[in-house]
Amino acid sequence: MLLPEPRGPLSRHLLERLVQPPHDFSSPPPEGDAIGGDDFHLALYLCYELHYRGLPGVSEEWEWHPSVIVLRRSLEADFEEALCTQIPTGPAEDDIAVQLHAVTETECEFSLADYMRFRSTIEEFKEFVVHRSAYQLKEADPHSWVIPRLSGRAKAALVEIQADEYGSGSPERIHARLFADTMESLGLDSEYGAYVNVIPGVSLATVNLMSMLGLNRRWRGAAVGHLAVFEMTSSVPNSKYASGLRRLGADEATEFYDEHVEADAAHEMIAVHDMAAALAEDEPALAGDILFGARALVELDVAFARHLMNSWAAGRSSFYTSHAGEQQVR
Ligand SMILES: [Fe+2]
Ligand SMILES: [Fe+2]
Repeated sequence: MLLPEPRGPLSRHLLERLVQPPHDFSSPPPEGDAIGGDDFHLALYLCYELHYRGLPGVSEEWEWHPSVIVLRRSLEADFEEALCTQIPTGPAEDDIAVQLHAVTETECEFSLADYMRFRSTIEEFKEFVVHRSAYQLKEADPHSWVIPRLSGRAKAALVEIQADEYGSGSPERIHARLFADTMESLGLDSEYGAYVNVIPGVSLATVNLMSMLGLNRRWRGAAVGHLAVFEMTSSVPNSKYASGLRRLGADEATEFYDEHVEADAAHEMIAVHDMAAALAEDEPALAGDILFGARALVELDVAFARHLMNSWAAGRSSFYTSHAGEQQVR
């Protein structure tokens, strides 16, 4: 992995400091689109990566450095405010399982999965995989931050899901490993972070949402709602992605998607009833947050899908492009 190129004042400010030994610095107030901005979400993504696999050439001492945390908190505050403006918040009024199902129905209006199944080219499929690599090479990790923040039924259910995500004891079955195998089958580089430089803010935002909800204890309800909808909206789309790859003759690249068809049909039931509904019953004050996390996922996923399909409809790559020119993965 190489450090990505800066995309504007925020990411430049941060990258210039991170390559130096840890030191105090102050940051300008965030600017740009807090929902999907390229500069904004690259800066936030880099802050979070210090907590996951770290960054190449960047001291591990930066992880908890107060100057980075201050910047991260100000980015999170803007991201959160922007999401709250677009998404209804407040207490849940009905059965949480019923409401979670209602949230997922909006996503069906805009089906990237149908496009990938019936119409995408192999180049578009590779682009889609590259976008998703920002999450799927660390699949399940953001929700694991929530484990010590739960207890009882919801904790047991979350850990049951996560155990499957981490291969149930078999390293070769870790879902992030299966995704790396898919990338390699498609001739892509499966090294962690290999493509951050071309992944736009609208895609990084979907990952930053999970990291923000996972790393802030006060958002534990939202993290649970996010995971519930993630599992609810996985089985059917993944079967479509697998069909799309077979249509394109890439049968050897389908294992990751095939695995999720069955696994996530089971995870959906555990996530909705044993985890999210149980948490709402045990801690009713979190019910509104559970729905917020669910709606935030759908909001950002729809924006992601729209970006890909609009780019391709216009005959363009969906990757981030700097002023220096087009960057594509072929
Ligand atoms: Fe998975
Ligand atoms: Fe799953």
